[in-house]
Amino acid sequence: EPLPITQPDGALPLTVAHRGYSSAAPENTLAAVAAGIRARSEYVEIDAHTTADGVPVVMHDSTVDRTTNGTGAVSALTADHVTGLDAGSWFSPAFAGQRVPTLGAVLDLVKDSGSTLLLEVKGPETRAETGGIVAEVLERGMAEQVLLQSFDEQVLRHARELAPEIPRGLLRSALDANPVATARSLGVVAYNPSANALLGRPGVVADLNEAGIAVMPYTVDDAARWQRLTELGVDAVITNRAGEFAGWRQRS
Ligand code: G3P
Ligand code: CA
Repeated sequence: EPLPITQPDGALPLTVAHRGYSSAAPENTLAAVAAGIRARSEYVEIDAHTTADGVPVVMHDSTVDRTTNGTGAVSALTADHVTGLDAGSWFSPAFAGQRVPTLGAVLDLVKDSGSTLLLEVKGPETRAETGGIVAEVLERGMAEQVLLQSFDEQVLRHARELAPEIPRGLLRSALDANPVATARSLGVVAYNPSANALLGRPGVVADLNEAGIAVMPYTVDDAARWQRLTELGVDAVITNRAGEFAGWRQRS
């Protein structure tokens, strides 16, 4: 069953655990994804890059420097090298065993979890690299359990051509003049803006929802904006504090 993305009027927003439950465990590791699932997040967000030998791996930055004990660009390193790095110690010694996961390992963890994967494809990347990412989803039969999002329109075009059955979302750091028209032209089911950009033009939520397009703002960790965005009727909130947001939602 695909998760209904657009929430009915008056419903509370779904939880999206940003980079996994990344305030509780090192971002974009299996520990963070598992913590997001345990917190009953409807979505877990992760970021994907492709290694020099064509393997999709899960990491936010284009280099491994910040979140591992290695150095260099993911695109210049082999998958064997990247997945052997320590991706947990920088966060806490308690997570020293965490490695950089392949996208396949994250998909396997999410598959029977009840959560949906919000898969951000970082880009820029070649059509073949985007093809490698969508292939991981399709070979597991998970097209209905993934929402593929990107800031990169070329990635979204390639994904639409290669695997139109995987729903897509557009990330934006600033709002388009006409978000509905932009979303329609790209064929996306979700428009995912920076929360602060959205709060500068809050009427956009109703415009998008009336057009059947979900709105999932990022990245919101404070209750004041959880409240404001809920009042506006956003469909999901992307947060580093997935457990706290779910608790707040339950009390609302
Ligand atoms: O899911 C949206 C958000 O992750 C986009 O920003 O830089 O955290 O990937 P970033
Ligand atoms: Ca992201």
